[in-house]
Amino acid sequence: MHESRLLSPRSFQAGLLDSTYENVLEHIDCGVMLFDEEGVLTFVNARAYGMLELQRYTLAGCTVVDLLTHLSLSRIKKRQLLHIYRETVYKGKTMYEFMDEYGRYWEVNASFGGDMNGSYLFTFKEISDYKKIEQTAYQNDNLAMLGKLSASIAHEIRNPLTAIRGFIQLLRPHLQGLGKEEYAKIILAEIDRANDIIHEFLSSSKPSSPQAGIISVSALMKEVILLTESEVLMKGCQIVLNALASDLYISVDVKQIKQVLINMIRNALEAVSDRLDDITGRIELGAYREGGEVRIIVSDNGKGMDVCTMSHLFNQFFTTKENGTGLGLSVSDRIIKNHGGRISVSSRINEGTSFVISLPLTPGLTA
Ligand SMILES: Nc1ncnc2c1ncn2[C@@H]1O[C@H](COP(=O)(O)OP(=O)(O)OP(=O)(O)O)[C@@H](O)[C@H]1O
Ligand SMILES: [Mg+2]
Repeated sequence: MHESRLLSPRSFQAGLLDSTYENVLEHIDCGVMLFDEEGVLTFVNARAYGMLELQRYTLAGCTVVDLLTHLSLSRIKKRQLLHIYRETVYKGKTMYEFMDEYGRYWEVNASFGGDMNGSYLFTFKEISDYKKIEQTAYQNDNLAMLGKLSASIAHEIRNPLTAIRGFIQLLRPHLQGLGKEEYAKIILAEIDRANDIIHEFLSSSKPSSPQAGIISVSALMKEVILLTESEVLMKGCQIVLNALASDLYISVDVKQIKQVLINMIRNALEAVSDRLDDITGRIELGAYREGGEVRIIVSDNGKGMDVCTMSHLFNQFFTTKENGTGLGLSVSDRIIKNHGGRISVSSRINEGTSFVISLPLTPGLTA
């Protein structure tokens, strides 16, 4: 097997790198890999083999093919390397960006041809911070545009809503006659909620400060289920409320918290509908007390999420859906933070997802 000087066992031992240049390359803050004209890896620095999650000695004399079939290299890393190979060596690009399985962004620079004497040099630089700044700038641009659009959208949507509201009021006595006055009440309350949402989120893109009202957690969850049940049943799924051990009270802006729960139930419904097998979609709501807080859980047995989706979940405009706006969870996160709470999430691909909302309990009303 071809064994280069730089990858020989002698140079694996720290401190024995025999030239200043090698030492510099060894400690540089980016991954470096050098392949010779025969495609054999002749140098790999600490950052690069750390990135591949491999031991350096297992790389001695590896060719590209050996690397792609390396027994200790994870499948996901193999796929990443294959993409890098295809984009650079095969397609001739000198720069390639990708996101790894931990949601970190990397820039790969490839140097070959010209004065490289047939060698291929790859450098890997983490650019997650730069990407974050870029995304924020992009979001700010989007927000500015959203701000301009919002006034006209709000105007356009409010007109039909006002008309619907008027007609429902006209129908109210008939519904009363049928013993269904509750329907009219729900429709009116929902139209008012829609009006508020349009005003709050499209015109300013940030929720207003909460209007506190005390509500029992179980009453809140029952109302939310009532509002979403028909949509859930229509899709052949189930929604269940796990009984609470004792009733808990929170002081919250009821409309805003309802909106958070509805956003989560909609996401759950979309996730269970997207599952490829024909398992029955099931959404569960529950709550329990933890010290001075209530934990409200919305869980589903939907398609779940990968780590990359999980790491961007609460970013404005982040969506994996063709018709999604990517605003649901970012707005929900802000609402919960405005209430002094937080949202956490756990998920498994093809098994499901659980969102846990923690909110402070109202002192005095809880045992
Ligand atoms: N229960 C869930 N199961 C699987 N993935 C989810 C779940 N909830 C959220 N997600 C993922 O998080 C992304 C962001 O969700 P978010 O609600 O913010 O936006 P969206 O649903 O895509 O669009 P919309 O603004 O219409 O709600 C979704 O596109 C989806 O990939
Ligand atoms: Mg959503």
